[in-house]
Amino acid sequence: MCLASKNKYLSPKYLYDKVGSQLFEQICIQPEYYLTRTEASILSKYAPVISKLLGNNIHIIELGSGSSSKTAILLSHFSSQKKRIYYFPIDISSTILTESAQRLKSQFPKASIVGIASDYNMGIDRAAAECKVAEKEEKKKNNDDDISYTKLVLFLGSSIGNFELIEARSLLRSVRQRLNASDFLLLGFDLQKDESVLKAAYNDKAGMTAKFNLNLLARINRELGGNFDLEKFEHYAFYNLEQHRMEMHLISKIDQQLYIGALGKTFSLKKGESIHTENSYKYSLNQIAALAEDCGFGIEKNFTDKKRWFNLALLSPS
Ligand code: AVJ
Repeated sequence: MCLASKNKYLSPKYLYDKVGSQLFEQICIQPEYYLTRTEASILSKYAPVISKLLGNNIHIIELGSGSSSKTAILLSHFSSQKKRIYYFPIDISSTILTESAQRLKSQFPKASIVGIASDYNMGIDRAAAECKVAEKEEKKKNNDDDISYTKLVLFLGSSIGNFELIEARSLLRSVRQRLNASDFLLLGFDLQKDESVLKAAYNDKAGMTAKFNLNLLARINRELGGNFDLEKFEHYAFYNLEQHRMEMHLISKIDQQLYIGALGKTFSLKKGESIHTENSYKYSLNQIAALAEDCGFGIEKNFTDKKRWFNLALLSPS
């Protein structure tokens, strides 16, 4: 987080407090926001294919699980195939995590579900540890040392698009370190496409994306004693063609001074100056293949929709 320098930015992970996570759920059902709908339809279509590649005991670790609604598509297919499911959703918002875990437990009573309220890096460590414990317990309970487990790590929704390439690589490598040869990583990527489609998706008519973006400032007011007036800022989202990324900014409508109590600091913003709040990288299939290879993975299968707007890459250790 940095408001003091010339290029002001806030990490997109701060978008997801309770209110922000709820607003994001609203974004997901806007007609312009094709990502969630497209990814869900790909998952529904290919869940049987994915299911066949996995063993009968599955440890699912999900980074940034949110409402888990897309994961439920997989869970329902796996459970119809009588697979034993362990699910470890990781999310930075403990509120949404608890709510979704509760809902999933009643929907899939036979699955073991343990939510982990954390950011990605710590979450992966804790989930890997939970997997080991679960494995030991099962082996003991069944008095069988040879039961095998397939880990399936999920990173859906094109959340990987929030990362710079260098950060994406480091995250994937750290996932890779925790996987065995027969485990999988399922990664959702938003694909490069016509600029007009992208711009519409991040500037929905109902104004949900704008609210979501502005909530960052409301959150600073709530949690850090800030004095931001949300009316004095404007949501701005555009496609950066050279970098293949959507950018989200909050633009100051006037020259203003802002005070953040918890920091005891004042910041000035000029009229038209921006606070950069998110990058959302759009990939090509070639870039996906290169990223996978760089991180010790091979592409087992790419699942794409007819319009080629979204791609789910199923990776396995190479
Ligand atoms: C959750 C990171 C995938 O980049 O599309 C939605 C977040 N930002 N509208 C995305 C978001 C603006 C979203 N991700």
